[in-house]
Amino acid sequence: MKVLANDGISAGGKKTLEEAGFEVITIKVAQEQLANYLRENKIDAIVVRSATKVRKDLINACPDLKVIGRAGVGMDNIDVKYAREKGLYVFNTPSASSSSVAELVFAHLFGAVRFLHAANRNMPLEGDSRFKELKKNYSGGRELRGKTIGIIGFGRIGREVAKIALGIGMKVIASDREEGEAEITLEFYNHQEIKIPIKTEPVEDLIKHSDFITIHVPAQDEPVLGRDEIQNMKNGVGLINTSRGGLIDEVALVEALDSGKVAFAALDTFKNEPSPAIKILMNGKISLSPHIGAATGEAQDRIGVELADEIINALK
Ligand code: 3PG
Repeated sequence: MKVLANDGISAGGKKTLEEAGFEVITIKVAQEQLANYLRENKIDAIVVRSATKVRKDLINACPDLKVIGRAGVGMDNIDVKYAREKGLYVFNTPSASSSSVAELVFAHLFGAVRFLHAANRNMPLEGDSRFKELKKNYSGGRELRGKTIGIIGFGRIGREVAKIALGIGMKVIASDREEGEAEITLEFYNHQEIKIPIKTEPVEDLIKHSDFITIHVPAQDEPVLGRDEIQNMKNGVGLINTSRGGLIDEVALVEALDSGKVAFAALDTFKNEPSPAIKILMNGKISLSPHIGAATGEAQDRIGVELADEIINALK
């Protein structure tokens, strides 16, 4: 049986599949050649990350394909319902990358409140000639301790974000389908545990109460945070999007950064990936990363092994 890991697979995942007798192909086939490649090579399972699209036309063109594995969380690049109707087994690895994404949120957040994104851009250019000015520009930072983080979407990743926030003394409010209270279990290295109740409230309330807002929901047709929502936020709020491009309206965001309503944004995902808007890339108040939330060795190892186990269960 043959598996094409078109966007790669960890060494552990590949090894597990090979030990179970699968041939694992890790070359990158261009999107437009994929249907031919899958058909001609009689590929049984395709594994993708977010780069490769598995749409209806591809599914229709490849009668031998039995399994579509998403090495990650978001399945917006796959026509899941259609594939399942056609009898394919389609799955993702929803939990394996939660910690990595949550840590990236805080990598951005810790950096942004101290202007590290801007300092890292300007120190190489002017650090030797304008040191004192740069020091002045990047003073006036803020601490996270004691501030309120609003988490929109309180699933696996949102909850991991909450754990880190609680650990550093932040107040956490969350917004999810259900309102009320959600319980977070903080687990420590020595196996001690603490359970902490988190208040959940509607997005329209959360945005008014938060110093920093991070979004953890799947791709949507419309922004979750547009011009109106931004107007209702605290002045000087910081916004983080490591989920999917467009969940924050990028035009409204740039306006709000220019006016000072939003102090900074941190974006790992963009509306027009893989070609984000130049206005976003060039904005000095945005901390940027190229969709690397799940891209740690640890997350990819967990994803690879989970994928391998699922494919073996499905096909053997
Ligand atoms: C996901 O949905 O799992 C993340 O956005 C990561 O996407 P990637 O696998 O393309 O890095």
